Amino acid sequence: MENQQGATPDRMQDIISLCKRRGFIFPNSEIYGGLNAVFDYGPLGVEFKNNVKRAWWEAMTRMRDDVVGLDGGILMARRIWQASGHEEVFTDPMVDCTNCKKRFRADHVIEDFGDLSTCPNCGLKGTLTEPRQFNLMFKTFMGPVEEDAAMVYLRPETAQSIYVNFQSVQASMRKRLPFGIAQIGKAFRNEISPGNFTYRTREFEQMEMQYFIPPEQEQQWFDYWRAQRWQWYLDLGMTESHLMWHTHDAKELAHYARAAVDVYYEFPFGFKEIEGIHDRTDWDLRRHTEFSGKDLSYFDDQEKRRYIPFIIETSVGADRSTLAFLCDAYHEEEVEGDKRVVLRLHKRLAPVKVAVMPLSKKEGLVELAHAVHDGIRSVGMTQYDETGGAIGRRYRRQDEIGTPFCVTVDFQSLEDNQVTIRERDSMAQRRVAIPELRAILAAELA
Ligand code: GAP
Repeated sequence: MENQQGATPDRMQDIISLCKRRGFIFPNSEIYGGLNAVFDYGPLGVEFKNNVKRAWWEAMTRMRDDVVGLDGGILMARRIWQASGHEEVFTDPMVDCTNCKKRFRADHVIEDFGDLSTCPNCGLKGTLTEPRQFNLMFKTFMGPVEEDAAMVYLRPETAQSIYVNFQSVQASMRKRLPFGIAQIGKAFRNEISPGNFTYRTREFEQMEMQYFIPPEQEQQWFDYWRAQRWQWYLDLGMTESHLMWHTHDAKELAHYARAAVDVYYEFPFGFKEIEGIHDRTDWDLRRHTEFSGKDLSYFDDQEKRRYIPFIIETSVGADRSTLAFLCDAYHEEEVEGDKRVVLRLHKRLAPVKVAVMPLSKKEGLVELAHAVHDGIRSVGMTQYDETGGAIGRRYRRQDEIGTPFCVTVDFQSLEDNQVTIRERDSMAQRRVAIPELRAILAAELA
């Protein structure tokens, strides 16, 4: 079945294969047979994901006066997860097939097949068990003794360390409401049915921002952050028609949310959530006040009133949004009778910004190409391509990893001190003087 992008689920296989072949993403523990639903980012993947995280951090903190950063621990006191409600209700309904022994999320089976009468794997009727609630938090132990009192959870969301640090941040940074705290970090969920590559994994990264507001400003800031977050994707080149809003109905709302909207992206496997914007009311700070015995209310010294702040949360998966940017950038086209695969990534997201290549390995060219490369390193991540072979094939390899510019040093360069800049999307080429190259590329990549 085709979706709007003309992309079939086979397109996902093309993307997964490119990720492996070109050093973006590898299966975790692969030489030992792999660890289900965990992935490792290779040399290009780590650059790409870091660029997504940097773009988020800049938009959410550095370009604003009202949001500051935090980097909390993955391990936190168990009591936090009792206060947050996660220990009690962070569960998914699970069913097992008594025939093929596969395990599924009951709500996913119902969503896809209408009811629980048939096993989606072996196709037998009446083999699925009654749904049971399964808590998604990973457990581990602090210290040498594996006893209940030493049990701690790996955080399933980064948000809670922001709430429990709310007062320390507010007091140390002398912040007045409204203001926000942003964090990027690992989160862990023992998902029952992970899948679709890095879309749903058991270890992933979140980019979350909690905005603390007076209660009566709930709707205004919910609408504001909705608009801001939509625009972020567009600013990074996401195709708007591949995005849509999904509003949670009462059944879907998380236990902490009064209202929630998701940004959905149209992956080759369908429209799926990449980000949530949640109105969490005063649920979190009120619960932490109750459970810790510490008063987390805020005193507004201008209005002379004390209240528990409400919170508007924006929460996006770094891995999921990276995958969405990757899917959106992936294009196959025909150029002079050949297939060209090109990642039309926004320049800020491309893992390699410029590749420098000598036309041949002949004497003189390699030295000059190295000197040209050294002269432009400061514009961003660069690559020196010494693989040799036809220049067209080397351009294609750079297209496949989304490199916006290639710089070619040829025999004429030895005479006129000029090189060729080749642009990824248009494939247009122009000659520029080597002394001006760095400034030209810096301006193009700004
Ligand atoms: N603090 C709120 C929160 O965690 P969520 O909707 O459960 O809300 C937010 O998660 C985002 O985290 C999702 O939109 C998604 O991008 C990412 N995410 C959640 N579970 C994930 C998983 N198993 N694998 C990859 N990303 C995940």
